[in-house]
Amino acid sequence: MTNTHPALRRCWHPVALVADVPEGVPLGVRLLGERWLVARLGGRLVAMRDRCPHRMVPLSAGRIVDDELECPYHGYRFDATGRTTLIPALGPDVPIPPKACVDTALVAERFGMVWLCLDDDPIDDILDDSPFHDPINDTFVSGPFTTKVSAGILADNFLDSAHFPFLHAGTFGAGDDGKPTLTVHRDGWRITQIDQQMVDGAHLEHAEPSTAVYTVAAPFVVELRLDRPGGSDFIWSFVCPADDDSSVWWMVHAYPLEGDAEQIAGAQQLQTQVGVEDLWILDQMDDPTIALDVRAEVHTKADLGCLEYRRMLIDLAATAASEAT
Ligand code: FES
Ligand SMILES: [Fe+2]
Repeated sequence: MTNTHPALRRCWHPVALVADVPEGVPLGVRLLGERWLVARLGGRLVAMRDRCPHRMVPLSAGRIVDDELECPYHGYRFDATGRTTLIPALGPDVPIPPKACVDTALVAERFGMVWLCLDDDPIDDILDDSPFHDPINDTFVSGPFTTKVSAGILADNFLDSAHFPFLHAGTFGAGDDGKPTLTVHRDGWRITQIDQQMVDGAHLEHAEPSTAVYTVAAPFVVELRLDRPGGSDFIWSFVCPADDDSSVWWMVHAYPLEGDAEQIAGAQQLQTQVGVEDLWILDQMDDPTIALDVRAEVHTKADLGCLEYRRMLIDLAATAASEAT
């Protein structure tokens, strides 16, 4: 599945950290091969197509004036609904042409990230983010990593636990036997995968046996909850399918570290290195898009969750095909 597959329009996608969208400044982003912007207008987060309807220049180069977005070229102003409220060359009392408006998209904040959906009818909700807000947890981010690897491959990699003792031998994987015994269950646009793993990390004194509970939410979100004797750690893999040759990948973490800055920094450094290890090999793929034909690759029982993930993407792709007919 490419990053611009039409079925992805009905899905929610993370596009930026909330912290990247300060008050008073629009932020341009790329999603599904298109330019969009996010901005706070009157305290409300909005998403608009990043193209002025007058002469098609990017509105993200403009500024926010009186809770409206002002185009930098001829000063048209747009409100939070995308409606043009002022054409300076005409003055305030002249009717605005109905065509002078900008598309808007659904926008939400969750997991400290800004999410967009380019269709009014999303196929599913964004994953629940209550563990991210649980006061017991300290949260931090690794990334963003910008890569040519498609969003589907990155999600598949995050769900794949048989590569730990090989690709991640230098960070956390050396103690894992690399023999997953998976329980996999699909429910609509979600997959649950349960596995037993040895977990190692900068915040642990030694590797601990743990139960790994993965939740995949179509199309590219993967939550990993590691239930270990000392507590539960959450890692979320979030990918923005920016363009066909570009994805942006964040890993958001919520660990119970009692606010220990040194431990948080150590865990963040380790997880960044883990991301570098994954991209080292994935960036070498000839075609870094996920195959929508399950016969195109070899699958074994160690790949049960990854196989189910491909089936879910195939079903997702079919939703666009059925809408087109
Ligand atoms: S191009 Fe935006 S106002 Fe003219
Ligand atoms: Fe990995």
